[in-house]
Amino acid sequence: MLVNLRDICAIAEQNNMAIPSFNVPSMEALRAAIDAAEKTGYPVIIAHAEGHEPFAPLDKIGPAMVALAERSSALVCVHLDHGESLSYLRRALEMGFNGIMYDGSYQPYEENVENSQRAADMCASFDAGLECELGSMGAREFGEREEGATAEESGAIYTNPDQALDFIQSTGLDILACSFGTVHGIYKGEPHLNFDVLHKIRKLSQTPLVMHGGSGVSDADYAKAINAGIRKINYYTYGVKYAGEAVEKLIGEKNGETVYWHDMTTTAYERMLADFTHVIQVFANGANPVA
Ligand code: 13P
Repeated sequence: MLVNLRDICAIAEQNNMAIPSFNVPSMEALRAAIDAAEKTGYPVIIAHAEGHEPFAPLDKIGPAMVALAERSSALVCVHLDHGESLSYLRRALEMGFNGIMYDGSYQPYEENVENSQRAADMCASFDAGLECELGSMGAREFGEREEGATAEESGAIYTNPDQALDFIQSTGLDILACSFGTVHGIYKGEPHLNFDVLHKIRKLSQTPLVMHGGSGVSDADYAKAINAGIRKINYYTYGVKYAGEAVEKLIGEKNGETVYWHDMTTTAYERMLADFTHVIQVFANGANPVA
């Protein structure tokens, strides 16, 4: 059943939990995300990132995402992740996406506000929820995957809590992506998260907050972040890493025998299903199933 981004994050807020936003640029990831939600009874966000266009074109994966979400027994939001152009946002909205991230984090503040306002107007006419980002994660989502050991080394600019209130009020966003120490891609060292950033923002506004770079973080840090107001956690890299490792293992075990593509896709699906099922339960932070 389709639930828009604003409403799915309101469910997370009521239950002091976070909802995973899984990037699903393959049939295996898409099936695994929906099946994990149905199996556990928790809501899920399935996301297509503009940067995945080369291997998962929106025109092909988008209609499949919407169709599977509509017929699912789970509560599912179909979301555009890191949309950087307003024309791409419109394409996703016209296809039935009910969550949009407009990412103007690399722009000067005034420009980010102006474009986020345009995105908010567009989302309102489709009854879709809007996520925007303030501060910067450093390494761009789909640039180099392993740019730095820490967020600072990757060039991150932490979200300024004092600017956050103005940003929230002037853009009309529904949820805010914050930079507070996580990075996209593989962590080279232990992530050091600055929870003060979240506490300060939540003192000023109860707007649901979003963690990007959310795979590869410890369960203890997930819990701290959720208790500080994180309601959506973006999760991609470690899920596909585990799937890749499972396929490598399968090939090794075949020891030179033919390995069929459907054996690889089945292995990848099963590994992601196990991982996503675990992640959904960790992010539930002790809340009961809410589907
Ligand atoms: P990871 O690279 O940590 O999985 O983060 C994904 C993400 O933030 C997508 O927007």
